[in-house]
Amino acid sequence: MDRSLSTRQILKFHIEAGADECIADQPLDRFRDAPAIDRAAPAPAGPDASLQGAWAMAAKAGSLDELRLALESFDGCSLKKTATNLVFGDGGPKSRIVLIGEAPGAEEDRQGIPFVGPSGKLLDRMLRSIGLDRKSVFISNTVYWRPPGNRNPTTAEMAVCLPFVERMIELIDPDVLVAMGGPAAKALLAQSEGVSKLRGKWFTFSTPRLASPIAATAIFHPAYLLRSPLQKRAAWKDMVAIKGKLDSF
Ligand code: URA
Repeated sequence: MDRSLSTRQILKFHIEAGADECIADQPLDRFRDAPAIDRAAPAPAGPDASLQGAWAMAAKAGSLDELRLALESFDGCSLKKTATNLVFGDGGPKSRIVLIGEAPGAEEDRQGIPFVGPSGKLLDRMLRSIGLDRKSVFISNTVYWRPPGNRNPTTAEMAVCLPFVERMIELIDPDVLVAMGGPAAKALLAQSEGVSKLRGKWFTFSTPRLASPIAATAIFHPAYLLRSPLQKRAAWKDMVAIKGKLDSF
């Protein structure tokens, strides 16, 4: 009996495993060149060590450029192994508003820039509706590398990136922080409710290194709005409220 798989079956297997697009002509085994395990060496760093390292590295960064360099050399988040590029953030370092999404997608991974795919196009339109553009805001995510197959980032992946996200917010020190979608709201606003309960409300974001707390809110994630266009009306109200908050300073 011929047990070999057809090309179609192999393709189906890859798509189901999350390898849903072709990004190069030749396959690249990202694990092949990983250093061999030295069994005499001390135990490799575990998640706690990665987390401690992340807080220490992020705290040392005195500018966004230094924070980017720190992330480029940080190996504590396994998403880095499968991603093509670091997706650090986009916008002005002195922006009055910082928006944090969930995780980079395929196009973001390719370009190394957040929100450049379909949901980014909608985000651009949402910003334009209140007189803002990508140069007047700073946009980033709860994790800095694309999760394979666009799966949701895990709690551990978000936790290990959080020190860098917090430091990014401290360095920019905006007037307003906006969490886009549930995972960002959970990570930044310390609230357990979903976005539909949090949107339209104001919270504060503070860290020991911030001179004063930052006004923070949550909005529907643009990708959700693409799937649920009826919610765009609520999203527009939220954008108007954000503009009102910015104008109140
Ligand atoms: N969705 C996100 O949450 N972030 C991106 O950068 C792109 C899509």
